[in-house]
Amino acid sequence: MSGRPARIPAETTDLAQQLCINDACGATYGLRERIYVCPRCGETLEIKISMVPAANPAALREEWASRRISRSGSGSPGEVSGVWRYLDMLPFASNAPFVTLFEGNTPLFDAPRSAEYSGLPHLRLKHQGFNPTGSFKDTGMAAAMTQAVISGARTAICASTGNTAASLAAYAARAGLQAAILLPRGQVSPSKLAQSLDYGARVLEIDGNFDACMRLVQELGDDPSIYVANSINPFRIEGQKTVAFEIIEQCSWRVPDHVVVPGGNMGNSTALGKGFQELLDLGLINRLPKLSVIQAEGAAPVARLFATLRSKESDSIPATLEIVENPQTLATAIKIGAPVSWKKALRAVLRSGGQVISVSEQEIADAKAIIGRDSIGCEPASAATLAGIKKLVASGHIARNDDVVAVLTGHALKDPGYMIDYHEGTLSFGAAKDSAPPPITGAFRNAPQRVAASKPAILSALERR
Ligand code: F0G
Repeated sequence: MSGRPARIPAETTDLAQQLCINDACGATYGLRERIYVCPRCGETLEIKISMVPAANPAALREEWASRRISRSGSGSPGEVSGVWRYLDMLPFASNAPFVTLFEGNTPLFDAPRSAEYSGLPHLRLKHQGFNPTGSFKDTGMAAAMTQAVISGARTAICASTGNTAASLAAYAARAGLQAAILLPRGQVSPSKLAQSLDYGARVLEIDGNFDACMRLVQELGDDPSIYVANSINPFRIEGQKTVAFEIIEQCSWRVPDHVVVPGGNMGNSTALGKGFQELLDLGLINRLPKLSVIQAEGAAPVARLFATLRSKESDSIPATLEIVENPQTLATAIKIGAPVSWKKALRAVLRSGGQVISVSEQEIADAKAIIGRDSIGCEPASAATLAGIKKLVASGHIARNDDVVAVLTGHALKDPGYMIDYHEGTLSFGAAKDSAPPPITGAFRNAPQRVAASKPAILSALERR
């Protein structure tokens, strides 16, 4: 055995399996079995890869870095993709029909204004909005569509608040599969809808929210012609976990004290937790970063459960989650009341010593504007991270000298309407029945100004700023 973790030999499944996360069940299934929950007990599944600790971690780290050499179509999948360069850690053979659109390899920015805003001297933002379709979903979709091709699927389906849809639409097209997308009608940003249409997906709009779409997808998953591409599919998690590897690599293999992500359906937090845990198991890092998840107040079932566990000083995860029937937030990407991966995510958070908390619409809106001022920008759901970090610093969970990385999940242009409304002072949230809800006060508003078309008028407007 060289210094590398065990590789999965071609066409064998004995080194990786789908494992039911319910310890009391413990059922295992082959990789080719197209199942999304355990047929025996109904729990979610995760992929368990048998690995041996790396005998020479430095050589492995160097190999991963050296693969990242090409932005041209002539490069191998490992050279062009921030997912496939970590093939050693993924349940695919080296001759798999890799699907890629050059995902991953995203930047880790220093964000001085965001740091100051949250009460920290430094803060780094890992921007997954720099992926090909503008969100973090692409890393998981590269893996899921590769597996879809391996398993002989024809149609891949997802429920979505918009980003999974855009990503599935693009990756399915690239893989030669049909994409079918279930969207909550009228609740998806037009930019995201436009992407799905442009990539040629069959877009089906449902009168209902994301959770209703998700329930339908789970029913449809029984049909042999359908491949489910939501993060309940454990292959999505496998692709998405590579962001954990990239973060640690970009931190020069010094483990940050905290990694903070927004939470909706809870696939991303599950994936990060799995990625860090695998690096720890292989001896590539010596501790876990504390993983914290931030939800929007109106869509925060897991934050609510976490608060209950803390009040009871308990770490034992209950069998069921009390869902939020009618989730509400302007951060439409995370407008989710019944997250499918909540148990896996909560397990990862508790294991790492992190927290799950919620933030208000006002807090998200102002945090988003600050990330914009850092020349970075993101969509509203992503900004929940900065709002959450500010709260976690205030509560003392994050210490002033802690090294913190926040994951930004989507590009600013995913939701331009929100930005315009914030800066023009017309962003509003609330269920006022008789009158319009009051606007959110944008502490960092930057409204456009109307000026006469003359040099003196422009100069005088600039002086007045
Ligand atoms: N941020 C953005 C921009 C998202 O699009 C999502 C989820 C999340 C955060 C939450 O991630 O679900 O893994 O906890 N969007 C899904 C979608 C639900 O359909 O695009 P999560």
